[in-house]
Amino acid sequence: MPDLSAHLEGRHFLDIADLSATALRALLDDAHARKAARLAQGEKQGKKKSKKQSKGAPDADAPLQGMLLAMIFDKPSTRTRLSFDVAMRQLGGDVLILNRGDAQFGRGESFADTAQVVSRFADVMMMRTGAHDNLTTLAHHASVPVINGLTDFSHPCQIIADLMTFEEHKGKLAGQRIAWIGDGNNVAVSFAHAAPLLGFELALACPAGYTLSASALGSHVVQCDTAQAAAAGAAALVTDCWLSMGDDESTKAARQKAFAPYQITPALMAEGDDAIFMHCLPAYRGQEVASAVIDGARSVVFDEAENRCHAQKAILTYCLKE
Ligand code: CP
Ligand code: NVA
Repeated sequence: MPDLSAHLEGRHFLDIADLSATALRALLDDAHARKAARLAQGEKQGKKKSKKQSKGAPDADAPLQGMLLAMIFDKPSTRTRLSFDVAMRQLGGDVLILNRGDAQFGRGESFADTAQVVSRFADVMMMRTGAHDNLTTLAHHASVPVINGLTDFSHPCQIIADLMTFEEHKGKLAGQRIAWIGDGNNVAVSFAHAAPLLGFELALACPAGYTLSASALGSHVVQCDTAQAAAAGAAALVTDCWLSMGDDESTKAARQKAFAPYQITPALMAEGDDAIFMHCLPAYRGQEVASAVIDGARSVVFDEAENRCHAQKAILTYCLKE
């Protein structure tokens, strides 16, 4: 099989762990700057026309004019799909969508061949899939940058948006404590990758058998025995669903039992230091989080969802930069 990545024009975005601290900081700064510029542009436009800026209007610099992003969905999505699509339009480009149900990879065409075909039509591609190997195979055989839109192992795009959201509400990350409470899943792994790069502490409380893979447990990650211990003094309490896409449905009952003491309740929030509540969504009220928390004043979950768009712009321009 030819290794087309040798001719790669641009850079892949596969995992936070692949980034230097400087590159991660630059991505976050760019995401914040793009959000601020868009807000200023909207205010200017609003004054002129006395109406709100339309969401599809391009950014003033529109740096990706004429560029095409191919989005490959091997698994469902709402936020990742919306935010990449809108981000690409605002950057001046456009998108192509391949869904599992109506593309040949869903019938068994290899990701190696898919990569080579998509590389002939798109300037950059994003894939959401199960096995992380599918993503690395795609990247290995692509001649254009590949972005990880979630695998069973990690969800780095989510973490750019989450760290940005944290900074908006709580300021600098260095020296802060963030509590991850619940399943040690793909989102948790990407949080753990970011902790040493930005100097925050990730306090994990995961039931036995559901903690992060050992490879993700680096410095700045501490394991706690209880949800209360992780939440103590934390600036943010973060959780995710108890059954991720691709998890065995038959484990649902066992998971609900194991995870019950890890639900984010108002009492648990009170253990934090004026803590915000974060969740990548979709959420299941009454399971991983009480309605009073996710729908309460300390919840920033819809800021996280909106920030996916600003973060995707930073990621797309990082990948396509000369
Ligand atoms: N948080 C997130 O990635 O959402 P979607 O699954 O809807 O894309
Ligand atoms: N852990 C979840 C995240 C969804 C955005 C999943 O993989 O299903």
